[in-house]
Amino acid sequence: MNGKKEESWMVELANQRKTLFANLIFVETDDKKRIDELLRTKPILANYEDAEERWLVLDSWEGFYEHSGKGENTTCSKIDCGGDIREYGMRVAIPKVQKELETKDTVLVMTNIFRTDDQLNNAVRGWAMSNQLNVNRCSVIVFVDNKNIFPPEVWSHTRIVTPPRSTWAERSVLIKTTQDSMKKHIIKSKLLDEDGMGNTIRLTAGLTLDQIEASVIESIMLNEYISLTTISDLKTKLLANNPVISLIQRPPFGFEAIGGYNNLKQRLMDEIIEPMKNPQVAKYYNMKPPRGIILFGPPGTGKTIIAKSMSRELNMSLLVLRPENILGMYVGESEKNFKKAFEIADSLCPCILFIDELDRFSKRDSGDNVSSHVERELFSMLLERLGDEDREWFFVGATNMIESIDPALRRTGRVDSVIPVPFPDAKARIEIFKIHTSVKRKLPLKTDIDESVIAEKTLMWSGSDIEQMVIRATNIVMKNDLKSGCKGLKIGMSDFLESIKTFNVDVEENSRLQKQVKDQTIRLTNDTRLTDVFDHAESQMVSESSRIDVASNMLKGKKGKGGTSEVS
Ligand SMILES: Nc1ncnc2c1ncn2[C@@H]1O[C@H](COP(=O)(O)OP(=O)(O)OP(=O)(O)O)[C@@H](O)[C@H]1O
Ligand SMILES: [Mg+2]
Repeated sequence: MNGKKEESWMVELANQRKTLFANLIFVETDDKKRIDELLRTKPILANYEDAEERWLVLDSWEGFYEHSGKGENTTCSKIDCGGDIREYGMRVAIPKVQKELETKDTVLVMTNIFRTDDQLNNAVRGWAMSNQLNVNRCSVIVFVDNKNIFPPEVWSHTRIVTPPRSTWAERSVLIKTTQDSMKKHIIKSKLLDEDGMGNTIRLTAGLTLDQIEASVIESIMLNEYISLTTISDLKTKLLANNPVISLIQRPPFGFEAIGGYNNLKQRLMDEIIEPMKNPQVAKYYNMKPPRGIILFGPPGTGKTIIAKSMSRELNMSLLVLRPENILGMYVGESEKNFKKAFEIADSLCPCILFIDELDRFSKRDSGDNVSSHVERELFSMLLERLGDEDREWFFVGATNMIESIDPALRRTGRVDSVIPVPFPDAKARIEIFKIHTSVKRKLPLKTDIDESVIAEKTLMWSGSDIEQMVIRATNIVMKNDLKSGCKGLKIGMSDFLESIKTFNVDVEENSRLQKQVKDQTIRLTNDTRLTDVFDHAESQMVSESSRIDVASNMLKGKKGKGGTSEVS
């Protein structure tokens, strides 16, 4: 669990108020249960021990009211603010609220704010700056899903507190009380025992309290007990609601589905996976657990599947962040979603956070336009989180353009190593072919397959090209089978050779990319285990290239970016 976040967010809130004399504090959360929690607890915000504070709530749904009492014994009494908030918005209440804030020791909580206008913005900004409020020891707490709903001039002078999505202890209490309160809907023999409770608490990590309660109730209503399968499905759906992240709870394959790259796999096993699986060893030697890696190399060489298979090997969830969606958002939304992704990663720990296309917002150069401003902001958020001592998730980044990534990202403490993923050598190509014909897919094969010929004809192909080649061969045979009355035809060597002919892999361009990756690797590391891969691939190229008619490829005009394009 993540140490810092385990401390109550309300303690942080009260400390911020007391020590920094900030009248206004934003609580950034979309979890309604956090407001209940604050109002039931009513921590003392004033700077002296036994202050008696009066708590008022301005809620765009419920109106303006005073909230009294603590724990289970709370009451609400409406305050007339001279207009219907639901109809006219919060601004109608501002004169009345202003008046109430003239009374000493008043705490105002604002919630359910979905839009703002000039009047509301000006009022909130005024409260943030008000000396009078400070003298009166009044505080304003604004609950918002996204602080950017207010213009920066409002929140830039305030403190922002972000409650955790849920802690282990909170989940434990919530699941127990929800089960107790719904006992009559649960089959008696299926009430959670200690192990079941532990598994449910573990599984619900990453969800907010609101979401956990809803999932547990839905699961009981559907199954008449708390079903881990139902909760797991709901969790994937709830987290997938966020357009920039997706959660893969248990990828189907580990390292057994990665062909070749034995050095790389061994290195990941020795330096990352084993130490992470046995944290007590690192502790004994007073070493820090692994923090992260960056994989770089040409398209289709398997960077994404390496991240997925690591999560399988480690038995950890994989949170995938998609930069292409993040950067397309309107101002403020990108940062919010980025932050949320980190929060989810924090609360899912231990887990892996995988960021593909890292170069999208980690570029060295940046101009003055809006998108590069967002990129810079996201980049500094990423740097900060990667360097955060309390971070417990493991980071995997992937890129095709390692050179354009700001070196600050690669610094030790943020990631442990930068690892090249080049085009596969002949042995790896055979393994990749086998994986896509017999492991990931079990294809009906003839006995005439000569893998060494396939390796020979796929020099400088990526793993992705080889996979596509297998799919294309299978499709051809499948079509023939359907035409000939579904006899169950098998796929043979001639079908693969036919399929290979339909590909137009630019060997020369890919050789250039391979050399580039090698040069980059030499510049970035002096680890011979990494550079060895290239020497092997190079000597293989020299001996094989005579059999490859590179010149004829060139003559056919197949210039391009590397990768694949079709001949036909
Ligand atoms: N070494 C490999 N073993 C087995 N399959 C592979 C290998 N390399 C690539 N593949 C196959 O190719 C597909 C594409 O690979 P992947 O998406 O991991 O490449 P990538 O390096 O992330 O590419 P990009 O840079 O375009 O994101 C995968 O679905 C996988 O099935
Ligand atoms: Mg990828």
